[in-house]
Amino acid sequence: MNALLKVYFNEQHIANLWLEDKYYNFQYLTQDTQPISLSLPVRVEPYIRDYAKPYFANLLPEGETRTLVEARLGISRGDDFELLKRIGGDCAGAITLFPEDQVPFVTAGYSALSNSELITMIRELPQAPLCAGRSKSIRLSLPGAQNKTTLFIKDGVYYLPENGAASSHILKVPITNIAGITDTVQNETFVMMLAKEVGLNVPNVEMVQIGAVPVFVIERYDRYFDANRHLRRILQEDFCQLLMLEPTMKYQNTGGVGLIDCIQKIREHSSDITTDTEQLLKWVAYNVLVGNADAHVKNLSMIWSSKGIRLAPFYDILSTKVYGGHDDAFAMSIGREYNIDRLTRTNWKQLAEFLDINIKLIDKINSCLVDTIVPTVNKVLDVFESKYGTNVTVEKMVRDIGSRTNLLVK
Ligand SMILES: Nc1ncnc2c1ncn2[C@@H]1O[C@H](COP(=O)(O)OP(=O)(O)O)[C@@H](O)[C@H]1O
Ligand SMILES: [Mg+2]
Repeated sequence: MNALLKVYFNEQHIANLWLEDKYYNFQYLTQDTQPISLSLPVRVEPYIRDYAKPYFANLLPEGETRTLVEARLGISRGDDFELLKRIGGDCAGAITLFPEDQVPFVTAGYSALSNSELITMIRELPQAPLCAGRSKSIRLSLPGAQNKTTLFIKDGVYYLPENGAASSHILKVPITNIAGITDTVQNETFVMMLAKEVGLNVPNVEMVQIGAVPVFVIERYDRYFDANRHLRRILQEDFCQLLMLEPTMKYQNTGGVGLIDCIQKIREHSSDITTDTEQLLKWVAYNVLVGNADAHVKNLSMIWSSKGIRLAPFYDILSTKVYGGHDDAFAMSIGREYNIDRLTRTNWKQLAEFLDINIKLIDKINSCLVDTIVPTVNKVLDVFESKYGTNVTVEKMVRDIGSRTNLLVK
């Protein structure tokens, strides 16, 4: 018999994913259903021969995190299907996957972690990302290579979601295994706090000390409580999914896709193209200012919000340049330039031309951002320090932002 996974939208079984001759096949169960992706419209015929595979591959962890999860679960390297089967019970957005013989959600629930259990779980995350291997009922997945887990947090109590229950927050622990990279949790917390203050659409974040480990905690924007106080999922998909590309195509600088593809998708699908275009351009400028070279298309998503299909709130913004690496290429080109330290007005003009946008709009966004960030950055630093104390990496980031403003306005 062919291996089959049932695909759920919230608690509704809407489609199947199965292997046939090693190919991934995907089919909706009825015509009257929610599509899982803007790139996989509902239709009678199945999507065969791996057409839909990238959508599902993009739900899975990447890099070292994935390797660790595979090892913990005894799964062969690169086996997406088996990984989806084992950890696809809570993913980015509203789609979950369950093996054919499981009846999910009936026993869904949350198990509270005592303080000492939470401390142990966080301490062990570097060996067991996404709580992999903890128990068969815990099946959590998220893309990205940073070590993380998802949890349900309410009134200061942390819970493990089980048997298909939805998580409410994402928790990232510090990167400790790369020489020269420190304070990543402080870095991301500060950069996301500042992003909010300068008007980017970002979720609430905080830094929480759990035992000896500072942890970055972000609210999930793809969750909401319904009238019965039941946590529900909201459909989102990242731009690799939208473009039906494998996660390895996320870097334009190594042959993948970039801002032109993103703007096209926004124009095709957004219910507020003007606002989403402005937010995207502001995100580009903000990444330049904070020195985030890792701003790739998997760090952008679209969401089926109550206001229609929109660019999702931003996530995963932190400064990579604060750790040096002046030759680091930006994940996407701005005009023809990949090295953000070398940006000139010509590159912004090229960007305007490539995106078919008036350069005046980019000028306005860039100069407004500079005008706002200069007085705001120290205020946010004060708030950060009053909550979490001083931090040398954050202090360096603040100085660097000041020296990078000329990249936007010269
Ligand atoms: N606040 C959030 N709400 C909903 N989904 C999120 C949120 N933050 C991140 N995600 C999803 O989780 C994935 C991994 O998070 P990210 O911060 O990008 O991790 P990494 O640093 O490992 O790349 C993202 O690609 C996105 O799909
Ligand atoms: Mg990411």
